Amino acid sequence: MDVRFLRSKTALVSTADKLARAGLPLYVRNWYHESGSNSRSEKGSRTVEQETPLGGGPDRPARNVGSRKRARKFPKGRQLDLAALEQVRELLGDRPRRHDLLIEYLHLIQDHYHCISARHLRALCDELRLPQAAAYEVATFYAHFDVVKEGETPPPPTTIRVCDSITCAIKGAQALYDALKAGANPAQVRVVKAPCMGRCDTAPVCEVGHYFVDHAKPETVEAAVKGGKHDPDIPKYTDLAAYRAEGGYAMLAECREGKRKVEDLIKEMSDAGLRGLGGAGFPAGKKWQIVRSFSGPRLMTINGDEGEPGTFKDRYYLERNPHQMFEGALIAAWAVEAERIYLYMRDEYPAVLHILAHEIAALEEAGLIKKGDIELRRGAGAYICGEESAMIESIEGKRGYPRNRPPYIAEVGLFDRPTLNHNVETLYWVPEIMEKGAKWFADHGMNGGKGFRSWSVSGRVKKPGVIVAPAGVTVNELIGRAGGMEDGQKFKAYLPGGASGGILPARLGDVPLDFGTLDQYGAFVGSHAIVIFSQQDRIADVAINLLQFFKNESCGQCTPCRVGCDKAVALLQRDNWDPDLLSELAQAMSDASICGLGQAAPNAFVTAMEFFSDEPGPTNGAGPPARY
Ligand SMILES: Cc1cc2nc3c(=O)[nH]c(=O)nc-3n(C[C@H](O)[C@H](O)[C@H](O)COP(=O)(O)O)c2cc1C
Ligand code: SF4
Ligand code: FES
Repeated sequence: MDVRFLRSKTALVSTADKLARAGLPLYVRNWYHESGSNSRSEKGSRTVEQETPLGGGPDRPARNVGSRKRARKFPKGRQLDLAALEQVRELLGDRPRRHDLLIEYLHLIQDHYHCISARHLRALCDELRLPQAAAYEVATFYAHFDVVKEGETPPPPTTIRVCDSITCAIKGAQALYDALKAGANPAQVRVVKAPCMGRCDTAPVCEVGHYFVDHAKPETVEAAVKGGKHDPDIPKYTDLAAYRAEGGYAMLAECREGKRKVEDLIKEMSDAGLRGLGGAGFPAGKKWQIVRSFSGPRLMTINGDEGEPGTFKDRYYLERNPHQMFEGALIAAWAVEAERIYLYMRDEYPAVLHILAHEIAALEEAGLIKKGDIELRRGAGAYICGEESAMIESIEGKRGYPRNRPPYIAEVGLFDRPTLNHNVETLYWVPEIMEKGAKWFADHGMNGGKGFRSWSVSGRVKKPGVIVAPAGVTVNELIGRAGGMEDGQKFKAYLPGGASGGILPARLGDVPLDFGTLDQYGAFVGSHAIVIFSQQDRIADVAINLLQFFKNESCGQCTPCRVGCDKAVALLQRDNWDPDLLSELAQAMSDASICGLGQAAPNAFVTAMEFFSDEPGPTNGAGPPARY
């Protein structure tokens, strides 16, 4: 579908709304909605003749043309509730009725009613002209939507999410969860486990509504509930005026005024050695060149999903200086001539969502962008939507199912357009590299690495947090910068790249950390999330926690991953690990899974078997039962 066509849909839809207001029957209005359908091929567009509802519409009985069968009084399936339809219309207001906005509209319902009832879902389908099955499969895919069918009890008004991912787990998440669960009145409060909230430096963490309790204890969480805390604290940050006062947006102006050439800029990024910092490390300049090689119109996406357990660097930057990322994004969009930027931000970062919405409006107001040039999209609690093709599916209003490749998204991406996608931090460095020069960035690497990296360091160190250090730094150096090990804790092992990057022993503490340097150990740096373990942590428990995370977050699309993660958890929970069986399973998963989740998930137990086989637990069965 042509992007220009997408824009013109707004006009069609508003015509439909006018018809609705004029009280015209639904089957006339349907055509207007459907003709702006978001299906991948224009074949999906229907004509007025096709749309005449043979099966009847919700607001009139069925008409059976050319059949002797008796007409059904109502169409099959769940019936439309007109009161619910009115409520949904009120929530949507004059927003466009586009399919790609389905997730945004599910959020509106969830936020307002604290759940998505079947009648509201049915009404939303009617309003968006979507089949019920399509909306249902989307709504039930995302963890942050509570779909409540007829006869089911809606969730209580308050939800406490207890992070049970690895750093919170070693800091007592299970005990916290048990205590909160025991103390909660289920009619008022629901206590659930949830994956990493990107606050691992303040583990253990709980979210009460959208209010976060750092270093959580049962009493501090209960106080937050009693105090009616539901909204996030908005941190102080550099807003547009402050950023401009410091010379911000000068680099963008140089591009737009023709003082910079695209080719020179691409060369500068390549000379700097800027690589994708979302995990894959693909050279940024090269990616821009590839996207430019496909004919437009082109689009751009910013990946703010940051779901890899142990990672919180993107949140760190966006809660402090969002405009440096915006400027980098606008420069990249200029370089590849992207018509529009879609910014996908995880729902676990409500403060960041608030800041971004505010600052996009400020950019529009200041005339630095046109209205709609940057569209903010809110995730809904699915780690897999960090995988770029799954993120694109999600922006299109679908389940986050990774796509098969080729074609790559650089060629066929969002709405089938060539798409440049970047991680938040990658873009963050762009204006600074332009201002200070490629050499400045490249020279800051060590041990063969090039440039800076933002390491999210958590676990058993004294001062966890984001540490900006050269590419190629070692974990021993990072532990030193994080204030050393906590008192009484001895460095035993670490995750070099969050849940996906494997588990390495302390004896590999002097290996330079960068893309490719850990291949020989079956590990990788990925999103540069370092979690430090001590003698207190049993590696078998760590591996089980990581695989449990993948089991929960697998999108389920392909068998090797869906069944593989499940089997892996079951095998790891046995007293005796079976190295041959586990190795065979790991091979099948990494060979045959569609995307990086299933391919990388076995790294945790493969490296555990490789480096920690002498520890009670992994292979000799002498360990206690899993604790995390
Ligand atoms: C399972 C999985 C999860 C991912 N999660 C993220 C994420 O949260 N944020 C991110 O930027 N990239 C994530 N990625 C990597 C993206 O697919 C993609 O490589 C990246 O956004 C590209 O941007 P970059 O070149 O600037 O790194 C993930 C990849 C996989 C396989
Ligand atoms: S590997 Fe896992 S997450 Fe990726 S597509 Fe397959 S089932 Fe989904
Ligand atoms: S916030 Fe709990 S592990 Fe990241």
